[in-house]
Amino acid sequence: MSKKIKISVVGIGLMGLQHIKAIQKSKLASLHSIVEIKKTGIELSKKLNVPLYKNIKILLAKDKPDAVIIATPNVLHETDTVQFLKSKIPVLLEKPISDNIKSAKKIINSARSNKTSILIGYHRRHNSIVNNVKKIIENKKLGKIVSANILCWLYKHKKYFNEKWRVSEGGGPLGINLVHDIDMICYLLGPVKYVQAFKSNNIRKYKVEDTASVNLFFKSGTLCTLNVSDTITSPWSYELTAGENPAYPITDQSSYFIGGTRGSVQFPNLKLWYYKKERSWWNNIFNNKIKVQKSNETLINQIDHFSRVVLKKEKPKVTGKDGLNSLIIFDAINKSSKSGKKIRIK
Ligand SMILES: NC(=O)c1ccc[n+]([C@@H]2O[C@H](COP(=O)([O-])OP(=O)(O)OC[C@H]3O[C@@H](n4cnc5c(N)ncnc54)[C@H](O)[C@@H]3O)[C@@H](O)[C@H]2O)c1
Repeated sequence: MSKKIKISVVGIGLMGLQHIKAIQKSKLASLHSIVEIKKTGIELSKKLNVPLYKNIKILLAKDKPDAVIIATPNVLHETDTVQFLKSKIPVLLEKPISDNIKSAKKIINSARSNKTSILIGYHRRHNSIVNNVKKIIENKKLGKIVSANILCWLYKHKKYFNEKWRVSEGGGPLGINLVHDIDMICYLLGPVKYVQAFKSNNIRKYKVEDTASVNLFFKSGTLCTLNVSDTITSPWSYELTAGENPAYPITDQSSYFIGGTRGSVQFPNLKLWYYKKERSWWNNIFNNKIKVQKSNETLINQIDHFSRVVLKKEKPKVTGKDGLNSLIIFDAINKSSKSGKKIRIK
């Protein structure tokens, strides 16, 4: 077998730890080192038997990895990423690409000028269920896509809100959960032309939203409604239906509904709905349950894909431009909910 790609992980919090577990399970990658400012890094580096570096500069000076994963807070994404890109080290950068559009553009420009790859961590795109849906749409099994309906309803325990950043702007379910849905629906349905949104903090009364409703108008003419809340008792969210994260008990439900003139699809509990004879609401409608194994291997698939990107065998599935696109839509959602206006995406 050829040599494994040696990856350093920067920022060993909630997400950094998940990446380390995925690297350990990957056949293509191995853990090179960790970079963490907190003391917790010392114990972890002993446990993992890899070097710990206090900052990126020391890592780059002492022992360059083949590639790096950045899982630090969003405000640090630009400075952290650009340091590696300047050293021609490919980066898997956690979502969102950055906390602001200007800095996201700087990251993209740095990757371009240094001719070095970045992959943005919208990991759902590495799920085989999502790849199946993409094929169904591309093969025109649904006919012309008319509309989509996406639910992200879940209930977060009160302890979750002990962290202050989770009750201030950007820490709510729009920034934490719905950004993934935005990336996914743009991946499936293409570019967005207009955004319109409402936000509410009616239940939890924190500064940040607990619920939001978003309308997208795609350049193709397709419409889409996304509805998110972290205060609804419900099984209908990608988080609770896809089985990607063992931390969430899985439900046998769907949260995505995409409808076209010839059929519609629901997933993650993947079913394709269609008429056998003439299309009419007076005729029986049928469904094919498509067998796709639900698995928690999405993060491992992402590491394997990243390794192939490093080896130049594949192009990044989620580019810097994709990351910027999601950020622009997220920004438009906030602008629209404040102004009450429809926002044009250029
Ligand atoms: N893909 C997903 O589903 C998903 C889920 C959660 C978080 N995220 C993203 O992952 C990133 C990290 O989020 P998190 O929830 O793991 O945060 P976290 O606060 O749990 O972890 C961040 C870690 O980075 C460390 N850190 C801070 N500054 C550093 C520096 N200069 N050098 C090295 N380490 C430093 C912190 O000490 C902390 O351990 C964010 O961008 C977040 O949006 C993605």
